[in-house]
Amino acid sequence: MYNEKVLDHFNNPRNVGESERKDGVGQMQSPACGDTTFIYLDVEEGLIKDIKFKTFGCAAAIASSSVLTEMAKGLTLEEAKKITNAQLVDALGGLPELKIHCSVLAADALHAAIADYESKHQA
Ligand code: FES
Repeated sequence: MYNEKVLDHFNNPRNVGESERKDGVGQMQSPACGDTTFIYLDVEEGLIKDIKFKTFGCAAAIASSSVLTEMAKGLTLEEAKKITNAQLVDALGGLPELKIHCSVLAADALHAAIADYESKHQA
């Protein structure tokens, strides 16, 4: 059902846990299944210096969160806002149709974490 890249990210997830400062935290629950993802950001001078995740969900949700952290690390917040779930699916080499919503969960949690950071750091 899952390709090797998805299984690799599921079996060896990157950047699991919480970042040191948690400057921005995003929590998202999938309306489709109830699974939940947390994204933690440490931001310095507009750049994502560290990003970690915790996903209480299926293999596709864990793999999507893992690949998301690899993609977002080092980006500016503006660049990270443009990450879409379709890009996560591409980076994973595809997901089964029934599992596309799991990638939405990861992307939405990232966007929520950025919004949280920005709400706390308005000029
Ligand atoms: Fe819930 Fe995948 S089935 S996130």
